[in-house]
Amino acid sequence: MRSLAEEINRRRTFAIISHPDAGKTTLTEKFLLYGGAINLAGSVKGKATARHAVSDWMQIEKERGISVTSSVLQFEYDDFCINILDTPGHQDFSEDTYRTLMAADSAVMVIDASKGVEAQTRKLFKVCVMRKIPIFTFINKLDRDANDTFDLLDEIEKELGIATCPVNWPIGSGKNFKGVYDRESKCVICYSDTEKGTKEGTSVSIPVDDKDKLVEVIGEEAYEKLTEELELLDGAGADFSLDEVRSGDLTPVCFGSALTNFGVEIFLKHFLKMTTAPLARMSEGELVDPVSNDFSAFVFKIQANMNKAHRDRIAFMRICSGEFDADKEVYHVQGNRTMRLSQPQQIMADERKILSKAYAGDIIGVFDPGIFSIGDTVCAPKTSCKYEGIPTFAPEHFARVRQLDTMKRKQFVKGIEQIAQEGAIQIFREFNSGLEEIIVGVVGVLQFDVLKFRLENEYNVDIILENLPYEHIRWIANKNEVDVAKLTGTSDMKKVTDMKGNPLLLFVNSWSVGMTLDRNPGLELAEFSKN
Ligand code: G4P
Repeated sequence: MRSLAEEINRRRTFAIISHPDAGKTTLTEKFLLYGGAINLAGSVKGKATARHAVSDWMQIEKERGISVTSSVLQFEYDDFCINILDTPGHQDFSEDTYRTLMAADSAVMVIDASKGVEAQTRKLFKVCVMRKIPIFTFINKLDRDANDTFDLLDEIEKELGIATCPVNWPIGSGKNFKGVYDRESKCVICYSDTEKGTKEGTSVSIPVDDKDKLVEVIGEEAYEKLTEELELLDGAGADFSLDEVRSGDLTPVCFGSALTNFGVEIFLKHFLKMTTAPLARMSEGELVDPVSNDFSAFVFKIQANMNKAHRDRIAFMRICSGEFDADKEVYHVQGNRTMRLSQPQQIMADERKILSKAYAGDIIGVFDPGIFSIGDTVCAPKTSCKYEGIPTFAPEHFARVRQLDTMKRKQFVKGIEQIAQEGAIQIFREFNSGLEEIIVGVVGVLQFDVLKFRLENEYNVDIILENLPYEHIRWIANKNEVDVAKLTGTSDMKKVTDMKGNPLLLFVNSWSVGMTLDRNPGLELAEFSKN
């Protein structure tokens, strides 16, 4: 039997981020393989067909063969209990992707070695930076021709503004990929192209000082290049500092090939050594220690319609402190009531396992009869805790939405408000216009389809979406000091209010944002809302 502190301290909860096709799914599969959670990589989710296994909740996912929702995977490795929060890997993603990062203690960033930093990585990375969570980089697909290693590191530093520290160094790439040099052990680990789906083969490790042996195995040319690069690296690279890694200022970088299973276990081992157990979180200005406090958790995601027949909603919670015991009552802070969490479950691939116990660091899903909102806190009764809300991220696509059948106004408003409450979309109304028009804002355009689909299927309302050209949204940070009605912006600017009545401005381009700031001295604009 482990003590509570041991259970919590062996937990590692991280999100995987990448641009689509960089290899996130493949890497996750290999992690699970090492943990013994699956016998053969590919059985969790390969491509299109198998991907359904993970989150088969919405028909739209089935139709498109993509995962709209993020899911959680838990596995054991080397006495660690690891929770991976998967973020959808397709181009269109929703706020859920961002929110998932709020529930993680660190992030693994997968980069395609032939592509470097791509759009989606940049976006997700911003959220990691905002939260100052440690980021671990895996540069993947070294079995294919890769960009120059120094260039790749340079790009990460310049584009993402984070220092890099290579944990290992690749020797060649593509057909000439020979392996990696491990800087800590000062050994070269030779590449062996293991079969897809099997564990890493027994790779040979050769000390870098053993020139004859190395030349024999990797060849004279690769050896010369390696020594040259290592000299450069020792002179130029950032020094390793665990503190800087943990504050999110320095990212350790590993190289490998998830598909051929090279470098994955090395990465996992380094990662586990450098990451922390569940981190303390802020509640009303104070840090809540995960071990010494009673149970507390916050809701970071609400998933509706997982089972249409029951119209069920599942609230996903990240446990921040203590132990969750299904037999004990908890206190829902925002609802001000004591309750028992209904059907607590761990959602792993397509299986839902009813839980009796879970610990800080874990993610649980509970049945939500419509009482939870994103950001809510639940905790042990008689404890005082209220986690800071989850910021609302700026939508990037906007559309005016109308119901086709004007008689169905009530259902339409109810449906759209409920969906907005779950956080899948944001809705806005024209500022002071008295018009009943609703403007919908989403982070990824796929959410428009999800909205249409759900209003039709769950609320029996057909809608028309008319795309609007806005791309930038700003909350008025000092709304109490500004007379919004009198603001003078550019001609393309639109004033709207959000569900809570906060005033916002919509702009077609970033130039208009700057112009509006210039024209209204004292005006402060924010890219996301904290409440
Ligand atoms: P994602 O979740 O980040 O979107 O990427 P995913 O793992 O699905 O990988 C995208 C494609 O890249 C897949 O090929 C996958 O096999 C391939 N891939 C992943 N890691 C590596 C690697 O280390 N080396 C090479 N050469 N390829 C890699 P696909 O053809 O789209 O799918 P599949 O038919 O192989 O499943």
